[in-house]
Amino acid sequence: MTQIKKLIAGNWKMNGSLQANAALLQGLRGGLGQPACNVAVAVPAPYLAQVQALVAGSSIALAAQDVSQHESGAYTGETSAAMLRDFGARYVLVGHSERRQYHGETDAVVAAKAQRALAAGITPIVCVGETLEQREAGQTEAVVKRQLAAVIQANGHCISEIVVAYEPVWAIGTGRTATPEQAQAVHAVLRAQLAAATEQAARIPLLYGGSMNAANAAQLLAQPDIDGGLVGGASLKAEDFLQTIAAAQ
Ligand code: G3P
Repeated sequence: MTQIKKLIAGNWKMNGSLQANAALLQGLRGGLGQPACNVAVAVPAPYLAQVQALVAGSSIALAAQDVSQHESGAYTGETSAAMLRDFGARYVLVGHSERRQYHGETDAVVAAKAQRALAAGITPIVCVGETLEQREAGQTEAVVKRQLAAVIQANGHCISEIVVAYEPVWAIGTGRTATPEQAQAVHAVLRAQLAAATEQAARIPLLYGGSMNAANAAQLLAQPDIDGGLVGGASLKAEDFLQTIAAAQ
């Protein structure tokens, strides 16, 4: 069992509005108290400034959902790591399956994004995970190892500074959660891969994501290599997210 303070991060995806964000953060701050785990919310880029102000002085950390692989310049529509840092982002998601699937992000691009984040002092939450087709073809281990290997290769010397999120694509937004045993099996593979790259592997938080909620979080988080969660739908209502966070205490 690793001795890592658990991290529960909400991924709002493309949801929210000025009004809804204010209400959600008010509810979270009101109910959170002093959580035993780390808590973060990954918000759409236009709301970084708003949420930075709303979480100030609380135990909620700010996260972004994506970062450019480039440092600066003629990259219309992109957001640089330095810009995220300007708004106090502590974490940034890289390689979420929705980015890989809808925006063609390759392992190399994801590795470059992680590198940019680390160089700016922002912790990348590196997402890996297999599709249903890949799982059924017995390729789960090979897929997640390939995805993580690219990040390890590009970030060797500071790999102990990342967070990894295992998100089986078939469990995202489907209500179909990986069983604790299925998730643990993949987390163990990822831990071993990290251990081959750094002596600090036991300190690297490995999150599970995919229909995690208050009802299933405790069982998932009881697994020896599951150090937290990346929560989508259940992070959009204060009560749901608070209950999921409570499961990590
Ligand atoms: O990044 C979180 C995620 O993809 C899981 O989403 O809605 O299945 O919790 P959800």
